[in-house]
Amino acid sequence: MSIPRLEDLEGLDAARVLLRLDLNVPIAGGRVEDDARIVAALPTLRWLLERAPMVAACSHLGKAKGSPDPAYSLRPVAEPLAELLGREVRFVEDCVGPEVRSAGEGLLLLENLRFHPGEKANDPEFARRLTDGFTHYVNDAFGTAHREHASVAAAAALFPSGRRAAGRLMEAELSALRRLVEHPEQPFAAVVGGAKVSTKTAPLMALLERAQRLLIGGGMANTFLLAKGLEVGRSLVESSEIETARRVMARAAERGVDLELPTDLVVADDLDAPRRVEVVAADAIPPDTMAVDIGPATREAFARALGDARTIFWNGPMGVFEKEAFAPGTMAVAEALAASTGFTVVGGGESVMALDRAGVADRIGHVSTGGGASLQLVAGGPLPAVQALEV
Ligand code: 3PG
Repeated sequence: MSIPRLEDLEGLDAARVLLRLDLNVPIAGGRVEDDARIVAALPTLRWLLERAPMVAACSHLGKAKGSPDPAYSLRPVAEPLAELLGREVRFVEDCVGPEVRSAGEGLLLLENLRFHPGEKANDPEFARRLTDGFTHYVNDAFGTAHREHASVAAAAALFPSGRRAAGRLMEAELSALRRLVEHPEQPFAAVVGGAKVSTKTAPLMALLERAQRLLIGGGMANTFLLAKGLEVGRSLVESSEIETARRVMARAAERGVDLELPTDLVVADDLDAPRRVEVVAADAIPPDTMAVDIGPATREAFARALGDARTIFWNGPMGVFEKEAFAPGTMAVAEALAASTGFTVVGGGESVMALDRAGVADRIGHVSTGGGASLQLVAGGPLPAVQALEV
């Protein structure tokens, strides 16, 4: 099985192309706050627009619940997209229907796919309506590749070989992330953080099979500390995941993986209005405080573990980095990746935001546009959207 590329498409000179993008961008006050995903879609858009007379870009946005909701409209994306491309973008207020079917030449941006319940349900009838009038299908929505939704799964299957392909971003993401799964150069170190163990169990177990070092920080580290029998005060924990944390630690020991947890932490009595912020040893967290960042000794230890790594994967912040006072641990990891001469890959919205904040995104080997999708790939799980493209 292989994944067709743009070059495999036939008959583009008379094509009407349905292009699935991941334009799930943050929007506030009707304006796009971060255009990274729009910028990432440009190579495929430009390539298609040079060859095909008509391209209709579609995407989901936010947590729309199967009916129109102005808070999740894709309309605010049209203007920055037009500016970046330097050409007109016609916005259509629905992703299906006569206006889409009868649209003439040019570039269309369709309204949020998730305004229809059939999208998330992978409903074949919705897929048929969505693809009605299109001759070709391109999927460049890597960030959505782990979802089995109509626009990425059922819709792709409606186009024969020569009429469906992966876009440039999808290709680049798959090739960078597969390097981590298939033949990572050793030492391979993975840094995993964020709030929850529960969403990352499979990737953690999978990483233990390939990495030599696993560094765990952020809220999820508290559950590991608890599993080791330490007191974590009022820190965020997932009591239901203590057993998972034990399994991860046991597997690391079996495989000889160097699993590092924080040895010191920044703790605070309150997140919003802290009166007390201090650095404490991981086995001395005061009962009335909570862990909000990794401490300076842990930052150094993590930087050392990353220093000579030939491959590094990072997903998830080391603390409550949205608050400047609790950001140094996350920033230190961003800096350590930037300083690395190995192959570095970062996935997940928050880690990518941290790279931007540290001003080091351009010093990273591959910055993934997909958090959930990159984790699922690293975990060796199936990506339904990729399977649907295969020929
Ligand atoms: C993402 O932001 O991770 C992707 O766009 C997928 O969005 P979802 O989690 O709402 O499916």
